[in-house]
Amino acid sequence: MTSTTALSAIQPFGAEGDPDLILKPTEAGTRELRRLFDEEGLLVFKGLEPLGMDQQMEVCRLFGPVLDNPWENMIVSNSRADGYLGAQQLLWHNDLPYLPKPYIGGSLHALEVDAGTTSTHFASGLRAWERLPGKLRDRVANLNALHVKQKVFDRRNRLTDLEPGDVCAVHAVVRQQRNTGCPYLFVSEDLTDCIIGLSPEESDALLAELFSWLYAEGETYEHRWDLGDIVIWDNETVQHARGEITESVRTLQRVSIAEWGYAQMYPTDLGIYSDQYDMTLAQGTGMADASAS
Ligand SMILES: [Fe+2]
Repeated sequence: MTSTTALSAIQPFGAEGDPDLILKPTEAGTRELRRLFDEEGLLVFKGLEPLGMDQQMEVCRLFGPVLDNPWENMIVSNSRADGYLGAQQLLWHNDLPYLPKPYIGGSLHALEVDAGTTSTHFASGLRAWERLPGKLRDRVANLNALHVKQKVFDRRNRLTDLEPGDVCAVHAVVRQQRNTGCPYLFVSEDLTDCIIGLSPEESDALLAELFSWLYAEGETYEHRWDLGDIVIWDNETVQHARGEITESVRTLQRVSIAEWGYAQMYPTDLGIYSDQYDMTLAQGTGMADASAS
């Protein structure tokens, strides 16, 4: 539930806010937004004039550090030549679970869309944990999972898809939200290879059970994009996904909230990033304080 009249709950989780909360932030308003970001993990603002990348980065600094790097902040588009990800579907995932420090948050801002025709889906690991039966909670409480780099888009990524030089990372199946300490499930349909220490059959069965709670009908939020929308989410507690985008134009501006950038954590991913590696390490970060106005 929200306590500011400029904010209202959206179903099944998250909050929609007056754009002025992020465009003309006040101390009280920013405190409330941060509380909702931590507790709900999903904030929606509609009807904004298109923001430049720098403006969107400034908005995201209300919630955490933003690195001024081209691979944390980019255009996601199925029509622009400088856009990433094209038209392909993306299964449920957190961004960068295969690195030691997945992004804190993500944001997408609609620069060019056919109103209401394409969407991004969101699912909450916090809500999934809250609803998990006690026996299942006990079973997964102390387990770890292996997350692998994205190599394919039409099915779950597996360890056997990796090639020499690719990376993977181990994270707890149940993590705690960094500010509230609330537990959440951290396994995803797209990038979790297995739960460590179980047989392949046991691991697949347990993951399928956890996914059934994470992605249960009625428990996910579908955001249908209109021009000017901005969605900001906690990338650790909340997962996202999208279907194929074949018939509509869709260009979204993406800004990440992150302490660690991709190239800082993974500087040897040479094919894409080597020419900009030194610049990455020279970049500073900055998080706006609550009194920002
Ligand atoms: Fe993503």
